[in-house]
Amino acid sequence: MPGLFELKNIGYSYINGQPALSDINLVVNEGEIVSVIGSNGSGKSTLLNILCGLAFPNKGTISFKGEIFNEKSFKNDQFSRKFRSSIAYVFQNSDAQLFCPTVFDELIFGPLQLEIPRENAFHRAEEVMQMLNITDLKDRPVYMLSSGEKKRVAIGAVLTSNPEVLIIDEPMSGLDPKTRSFLIELIFTLNKVGKTIIIATHHLELVDHLQSGVVVLSEKHNIEKTGNSSDILSDTDLLIKTNLISEYPHRHDGKIHKHLSSGFLDHSHKKNQNNSQGTL
Ligand SMILES: Nc1ncnc2c1ncn2[C@@H]1O[C@H](COP(=O)(O)OP(=O)(O)O)[C@@H](O)[C@H]1O
Ligand SMILES: [Mg+2]
Repeated sequence: MPGLFELKNIGYSYINGQPALSDINLVVNEGEIVSVIGSNGSGKSTLLNILCGLAFPNKGTISFKGEIFNEKSFKNDQFSRKFRSSIAYVFQNSDAQLFCPTVFDELIFGPLQLEIPRENAFHRAEEVMQMLNITDLKDRPVYMLSSGEKKRVAIGAVLTSNPEVLIIDEPMSGLDPKTRSFLIELIFTLNKVGKTIIIATHHLELVDHLQSGVVVLSEKHNIEKTGNSSDILSDTDLLIKTNLISEYPHRHDGKIHKHLSSGFLDHSHKKNQNNSQGTL
């Protein structure tokens, strides 16, 4: 059986010649959670744009459920409808995604576009509002919401179309810890009911929580390594090389030694550490 997505030798450069992806080979299987990680500018958002048919590679091929697609495929109504109803994209910036006057309008927009009967669309919106705990925001104008509330509405706005695949760009950015925990639980809940979830992030803590498949993009825009969360997070050299963590000097017990920038990764404070740089 083919993977849900199969990418072969994908290359992508922007119109100004800026390279964003190089020689990407990747299979995403149905029901997986996949985290795409990499430093700023490594190509994460570009890869997500390609997966959801918003950008088309200059090189290589991409298939969805065994069917290779490109820009022309979207002129075919049948393919376009199948693809667009299966895949949902949650933008990093909720303001770029939300445009309806109220939260409720936002939630019913997708299903109405898919020509789902109004009554069903309304029912879905009520269900999704309960799930995301946003029922009290129903009639509020979206532009007046906090960034955490907007993120819930942005996710709600795609869930009402009941997609098979959720593609989420930087889900944690700009959110408080409570909303972050809520989102992590939501990702698990949605995955348990069978949804494939692909996220781009540079939050290693999220990658640790999700214990997902991980794709690491390098600053040269290719895949540096794939593995599971534990494989990747225990590979300190890889994380330093791909600029996902860095070392900085830190004072402890009167000594300066180097620390990794990501505080949640294991570290110890043994006496006479090799990397001590002297007493203050
Ligand atoms: N619209 C654009 N036009 C030109 N270059 C772009 C555009 N969007 C992104 N890039 C460039 O493409 C590369 C990959 O960007 P992006 O996919 O946004 O990375 P990431 O999401 O990992 O931060 C970067 O060098 C970035 O500057
Ligand atoms: Mg990005």
